[in-house]
Amino acid sequence: MPQRLFLSVLGAVAIVGAAGLALHPSGGMRQERTWSPLLEGAEIDPGTLCILERACQNCHSERTRWPWYSHVPPASWLVQRDVKQARGHLNLSRWQDYGADERQALLSAIGAATRSGVMPPSRYTALHPGSKLSGAEREQIYHWTRSERARIADPSRSAPRSQHMGVKPEERTAAMGG
Ligand code: HEC
Repeated sequence: MPQRLFLSVLGAVAIVGAAGLALHPSGGMRQERTWSPLLEGAEIDPGTLCILERACQNCHSERTRWPWYSHVPPASWLVQRDVKQARGHLNLSRWQDYGADERQALLSAIGAATRSGVMPPSRYTALHPGSKLSGAEREQIYHWTRSERARIADPSRSAPRSQHMGVKPEERTAAMGG
């Protein structure tokens, strides 16, 4: 019966449409965007930062450059879900909002994920060959996570400028009237 057929087609279209809406992560994510530097408050050399920008920032920060295919469903749903999950685990644009314990845990996760080759995901490097990391780059990130963890655990290691001046950070703040 043509009418029945029409109704079931209509039903199927409605179901697919609803599933699409459900899959589609809450809107406005593309607007969630800042150009503030990554890892604010961390001590990181420009070379290592550059590697993280190249291989991680698209998913793990608010400085996402949305590739062309991220505008075309159904790829767009997958990409947006990926970025949402990635930022949920680790958002390099919000580093200053994490407490010391969280930073420690994230640093060891970054070191492990990078060193083992789990991150960046191969589904991503396949489409973005420029984000592939060499073994030396993986080690570089891993070593940075170790020294940054040590610095957080023992803050007296940091603030090289005040050490250089022979003034402890507290005294320096006091001298600045803070
Ligand atoms: C394609 C986007 C994408 C890129 C690029 C990417 N990640 Fe991820 N990352 C994810 C997603 C999605 C998750 C969460 C789901 C999962 O575990 O697969 C995640 C999870 C993580 C976690 C959390 C693991 C945990 O135990 O909580 C860390 C740490 C991480 N990524 C580090 C990195 C680092 C470092 C880079 C760059 C070298 C990177 N990622 C590149 C998508 C990405």
